[in-house]
Amino acid sequence: MMPSTAEVLLTVTMLRPDEKLLLNAIRATGLEVQTVLPADLGEVLSPGNRVPGLAVIRNLSHRQAIDAAQRLRHVGVRTLNSASAIEVCNDKGLQALLFAGNGVAHPQSRHAFNYQQVRDAAETLGWPAVLKPVSGSWGRGVTKLFDQDSVEAWAGGHESGDAAGKNFPVIVQQYIEKPGHDLRVVVVGRKPVVAFKRSSADWRTNTHLGATVTQVEISLDMHKLCTQVVDLLGDGFYGIDLIADRDTDELMVLEVNANPEFAQSSAIHGVDVAAHLAGYLLDLMANRQDR
Ligand SMILES: Nc1ncnc2c1ncn2[C@@H]1O[C@H](COP(=O)(O)OP(=O)(O)O)[C@@H](O)[C@H]1O
Ligand SMILES: [Mg+2]
Repeated sequence: MMPSTAEVLLTVTMLRPDEKLLLNAIRATGLEVQTVLPADLGEVLSPGNRVPGLAVIRNLSHRQAIDAAQRLRHVGVRTLNSASAIEVCNDKGLQALLFAGNGVAHPQSRHAFNYQQVRDAAETLGWPAVLKPVSGSWGRGVTKLFDQDSVEAWAGGHESGDAAGKNFPVIVQQYIEKPGHDLRVVVVGRKPVVAFKRSSADWRTNTHLGATVTQVEISLDMHKLCTQVVDLLGDGFYGIDLIADRDTDELMVLEVNANPEFAQSSAIHGVDVAAHLAGYLLDLMANRQDR
């Protein structure tokens, strides 16, 4: 049987503009690249099939992303990101534990497994506090709690939709008063390739909620925090969110994303993130063949 698998796989749920940019950038390096939908994975994993050199995991569903990364790892494929990095990036609770345990500056955070623990955690951390689902993006479910009354309002709305409490645990986090923006740093391999401010009137500065993007220089502090994160998760492709405390100027890691979107922001700041990533893949493939 003819080997059908390309050198580089791009596992996806659907081709967003980001993945289209990435496919073109990888092709431009001369590497063969193949898009793999979840249902295509069976064929890729078939015995006798050529094992690809690398796979970039871009599935939208967390489950599908970890699933693809784990199965590919078991046939010897290096994935970007690794299954274990994806697992941590998909869970803000795991991130809080990892950062606290390794001295990475991060807002104080508590796990809460029921409503009473939410009340207690917010009381301990002080008002306002931030509540967030452990898994989620685009600012969904990220809620500011001003006092016990707002905890009751959140709990009331939540309970009616989730009587069995399946959405626990959640994270209760210290609220950081920021200077109207947070920072997103895109890391390729170990290297921060671009940083930008996300500014909005909403306290949640997700670009999906309308925040504007302005490129900034990558400071030493930003570089240092990103290196700490990459040291813990392994080299890969990450969107690292940083937040500065307006009062103390302290810079902290807010979260790290394993499937950062870049098409919209690249069009604004002009740094070709897809080309950086494709260049990194080419380097990895070259080193692999040298061995
Ligand atoms: N502890 C916090 N203090 C201040 N602002 C926060 C805090 N946590 C989140 N935010 C704001 O809300 C946004 C969304 O929160 P985040 O934890 O990044 O969740 P998501 O994964 O949905 O992006 C952040 O970009 C930031 O602007
Ligand atoms: Mg975020």
